[in-house]
Amino acid sequence: MSKYIFLEEAVSKIGETVWIKGWVAARRNMGKIVFLDIRDRSGVVQVVGVGNDLDQHSIDVLSNVRLGWLVEINGIVQKRGDKQKSFVVQLDRIEILVLNIFIISESEALPFEVEQNTLELSEGMRLKYRYLDIRSERVKNNLKKRQEINLFLRNYFSKQGFWEIETPYLTKGTPEGAREFVIPSRIHKGNFYVLPQSPQQFKQLLMVAGIERYYQVVRCFRDEDQRGDRQPEFTQFDLEMSFIDQEDILQLIEKAMIDLVKELFPNLRMQQIPFPRLTYMEAQKLYKSDKPDLRTEQDPNLLAFGWIIDFPLFEYSDTEKKMVSVHHPFTRPKNDDINMMEEKPEKVRAEAYDLVLNGFEVGGGSLRIFERDLQKKVFQILGLNETEISLRFGHLLEAFSFAPPPHGGIALGLDRLIAILLNEKNIREVIAFPKTGDAKDLMMGAPSEISKEVLNELHIKGV
Ligand code: AMO
Repeated sequence: MSKYIFLEEAVSKIGETVWIKGWVAARRNMGKIVFLDIRDRSGVVQVVGVGNDLDQHSIDVLSNVRLGWLVEINGIVQKRGDKQKSFVVQLDRIEILVLNIFIISESEALPFEVEQNTLELSEGMRLKYRYLDIRSERVKNNLKKRQEINLFLRNYFSKQGFWEIETPYLTKGTPEGAREFVIPSRIHKGNFYVLPQSPQQFKQLLMVAGIERYYQVVRCFRDEDQRGDRQPEFTQFDLEMSFIDQEDILQLIEKAMIDLVKELFPNLRMQQIPFPRLTYMEAQKLYKSDKPDLRTEQDPNLLAFGWIIDFPLFEYSDTEKKMVSVHHPFTRPKNDDINMMEEKPEKVRAEAYDLVLNGFEVGGGSLRIFERDLQKKVFQILGLNETEISLRFGHLLEAFSFAPPPHGGIALGLDRLIAILLNEKNIREVIAFPKTGDAKDLMMGAPSEISKEVLNELHIKGV
């Protein structure tokens, strides 16, 4: 391992000589003494350079160094006197007395101050220089918390016998109600892969495969209009189980959420445990919404989780002029309602549930159909003819002929969940390299044109 330490580690090394590396966050030249605030991933600390005690190289560095430059320092950790009040310093119980200082790399003038709350800057500026935005305390801390949440969930579910299994990104369309991103195939002229809107069919097929408990932290792709709580690519904590009923899944997820909040966000308060449950009808009646904000107080530290259950299986789409799935076509109708499917499809309730939090849908799932004939019937009600059914879903129906287990699952929208836990208004704030409101990556410059040669190889005529 390298000899240098994270700044936060210096707190327990008072009196010791340490090596640190970091960016200059502030510089105050008092003549014979120069104070620098040095920032690394873990915090900001004040370092003190006393001219008389240093060699010429270090004296020159201290007088030349500028904001944003990256330096390496060898120094002694000392307790700070009470009188010395810091500027932006967080690790303010200690300071580091410089013995030697070296410049690692220099910086152009930064396009913006990373010590400030960058929320006040324009989106364009922040996303073009996202790597600088990430240097700022808030964004960096969001990413730190995000990885803690991922790690918590992975450990939590793996301890309960779930396996994380990766499913393909180059695949065939799977309906979740949005438009899909399409990838042309070079080898198979005129054919296309589709990026998955979710691993829905794969996780069901893993149940047919006998995996029984699966999860995945997985990227999903949906080409839909953007909003503060939507990105064209986003991450789900996706899960599927065999031999369960709805109650098992609600309790499993509810307990995971409670434990997660208690362990990682002890400052947040959950309004009601067990989480309240409302039927879709009740939610519509009481809140005119299927993702109601259940908070009864205005408190930024309050989390109002709730379950919305008993969604309708189908709804009539005025734009498509036909029945569409409210959740997705693999969702199971309630046993009591199956006999109404053909006559009164809009009356059929589904074994589907959403997890809501402070007015956002942070998760959705269902029990699934595992019977060929029932699944076929649902496709028919959705207006698919025999040929379409076999072209699009033949593989699934065939799989259901090999003793499929009853199964169900859920997917949490990780970006939304994390944004709410961190009290951020927009999911961009918790994604390392998010897209703009109109789905552009301003830093890389995507989407972008590609060369004629590449288009030719992909058998695409230019526009
Ligand atoms: P669903 O479509 O409800 O279910 O998605 C699950 C959760 O993903 C989040 N989400 C999004 N987050 C950010 N940007 C988006 N564009 C976006 N779209 C959805 C939401 C949502 O609750 N396969 C099923 C799950 C299942 O049935 O198990 C599915 O994808 O928080």
